[in-house]
Amino acid sequence: MAPRPLISYEGKRVVVTGAYSGIGASLVELLKDAGADQIVVLDIKEPEANVDKFIETDMGNPVSIDAAISEITADDQAPVDVLFNNAGVAATLPADVVMRVNTLGLKRLTERLLPKMKSGGAIVNTASVAGNRWAEHVTEITALLAIDSWDEGVSWVADHAELVADGYFFSKESVQVYTMLTAKKATEHGLRINSVCPSPVDTPLLPAFRETMSDKIIDWAIETGAGRVATAEDQASALLFLGSDLASYVNGVNLLVDGGYTAALQMGQVSRPV
Ligand SMILES: NC(=O)c1ccc[n+]([C@@H]2O[C@H](COP(=O)([O-])OP(=O)(O)OC[C@H]3O[C@@H](n4cnc5c(N)ncnc54)[C@H](O)[C@@H]3O)[C@@H](O)[C@H]2O)c1
Repeated sequence: MAPRPLISYEGKRVVVTGAYSGIGASLVELLKDAGADQIVVLDIKEPEANVDKFIETDMGNPVSIDAAISEITADDQAPVDVLFNNAGVAATLPADVVMRVNTLGLKRLTERLLPKMKSGGAIVNTASVAGNRWAEHVTEITALLAIDSWDEGVSWVADHAELVADGYFFSKESVQVYTMLTAKKATEHGLRINSVCPSPVDTPLLPAFRETMSDKIIDWAIETGAGRVATAEDQASALLFLGSDLASYVNGVNLLVDGGYTAALQMGQVSRPV
């Protein structure tokens, strides 16, 4: 008899946001290899990869998100085992859009799906090392995340324009905080929630980060880490692990997948270029 694979998604129904390209597209391939029973993709663009179900969804629009949730949780559908909140945009878009897609939409989908998910399952977010300085804003972020209403959340973002700045760093700080804040609630439902925090990854989004953060900062982050840019598969592998039963006791963790970038920075071995 062949040995049982350590990571298996056999029998699991999985939802992935943002799987048209980049990390999400790579994750879909890994999920197929791991035997996922059903892969449901939520994106503004239909993936070229063959998936079981594509629901056109704008993660920055509450009506669109709620419609997707209704479809996912329809009476004839099995409960979701694993949710990957991966969709994200860069600050080449307005801060308001960045916050809607990267934080408010992720939170809405998670909160509404979580109580209906299958016990034993997991939620995995794609955050970023751009969110590593969350502790500096934890009070404000906690206030934002405590807001239930979509419109009030959007107004909060508008009222804190200086703090939110271009939206990207603040949105990812918020995802890291949300991951930790939600871990207790996840446990109560027999679930886990974690995030992966990538440094620069070679995906269609990277040129947008070069534009908003400069080549100098991006190249420095790459050199400080593994000395090579991360591949989409480097990140998708970590997502796959956190969503799997192999990570059964991992909860509320923001996992750095950055080739050592954060460690070198925090240990004072390198300093940010001026
Ligand atoms: N590429 C990097 O350097 C990097 C670094 C750290 C974190 N990340 C994060 O990784 C995640 C995946 O990004 P990627 O690098 O694979 O880029 P990508 O652009 O290839 O993937 C983003 C995906 O999100 C989808 N998307 C965009 N707007 C959407 C919306 N409004 N609603 C639904 N789907 C939408 C896109 O169609 C695409 O499939 C993002 O959350 C991003 O912030 C990327």
